[in-house]
Amino acid sequence: MKNYTIAVLKGDGIGPEIVDQAIKALDKAADCFGFSVTYREALLGGAAIDAAGVPLPEETVAVCKAADSVLLGAVGGPKWDGQPGHNRPEKGLLGIRKALGLYANLRPAVIFPPLRDASPLKPEVIGESLDIMVVRELTGGIYFGDRGTEEQDGVKSAYDTERYSVPEVERIARVAFDMARKRNRRLCSVDKANVLDSSRLWRSVIDEMAKEYPDVAVSHLYVDNTAMQLVRDPGQFDVIVTSNMFGDILSDEASMISGSIGMLASASLGQGGLGLYEPIHGSAPDIAGQDAANPLATILSVAMLLKYSLDEPAAAQAIENAVAEALTQARTKDIYTEDCGAKLVGCQEMGSIVASLIKA
Ligand code: IPM
Ligand code: MG
Repeated sequence: MKNYTIAVLKGDGIGPEIVDQAIKALDKAADCFGFSVTYREALLGGAAIDAAGVPLPEETVAVCKAADSVLLGAVGGPKWDGQPGHNRPEKGLLGIRKALGLYANLRPAVIFPPLRDASPLKPEVIGESLDIMVVRELTGGIYFGDRGTEEQDGVKSAYDTERYSVPEVERIARVAFDMARKRNRRLCSVDKANVLDSSRLWRSVIDEMAKEYPDVAVSHLYVDNTAMQLVRDPGQFDVIVTSNMFGDILSDEASMISGSIGMLASASLGQGGLGLYEPIHGSAPDIAGQDAANPLATILSVAMLLKYSLDEPAAAQAIENAVAEALTQARTKDIYTEDCGAKLVGCQEMGSIVASLIKA
């Protein structure tokens, strides 16, 4: 029997609760599809600061590198707000992405049919269906650029720098073009080329690469316009490729269209097969420990893990089907409405329902 080793970084806030439910789903999928999984837990974020003094201990990087894939919950919380910038929980998350070379972040925004009523957009705006893939550059740009805080003549200032090199844009563009080819062959590159030099470089690289993909229809949009278009006519998008910061912002917006940020999964990939899978939402410290979190984004991240890292597409599909079916029976608070026809459940029960519905 095939055995996979998964590094598990539960993190902070609701991280441990949602990861536990995702593990339930993965164990059930393993049973159904004839493989086994060994989990190796490691510390990240605030939990790592508390235990080891730093948000990304070396041991954690080693555990991840030795695994077939990494499953992550979420990091951060008010407890660590007082930490200096270089020692915040979020630095651990940025650091592990960088250490593993995971430059391509895939964030699919899809609407599950039972959740159409949970979307804040009118049905006629959503249209027939919604299926957008946001490809976010993940290890460059302003989140990793030169930064500093200075004081001159008693005036304090701080700066962060957006910088992209041609090879950095090329490799993320390659992922996005290939993705568009497997989908509806439409790629929208998002930038702020009317203002930023880094965006003008970004745009020129996309245009150059477009020549290799004559079968993909390429368009360019400014980020401000994209934010508007996403709520005006989301159906116009197939694949969106954009920088680290714009992708961070736009994927939150896209997630809301699908009903709740608690629904959006993500895969972070690099050159090798090792990937990191996490929900796009944060650690939600306000509801941590209350069994109120929505575990579906993390469970759907496991589906992505099975598809992209372990090459178990049938198991991935079984998890997605189970989630779709579970939504007709049960909802966590974030996606529950009085007239939705499903019962209100907590995080654990949602996880159990999904696991029970996974079948070969
Ligand atoms: C995300 C989060 C992170 C990011 C934070 C927590 C560092 O917002 O994964 O979208 O900005 O990448
Ligand atoms: Mg974000």
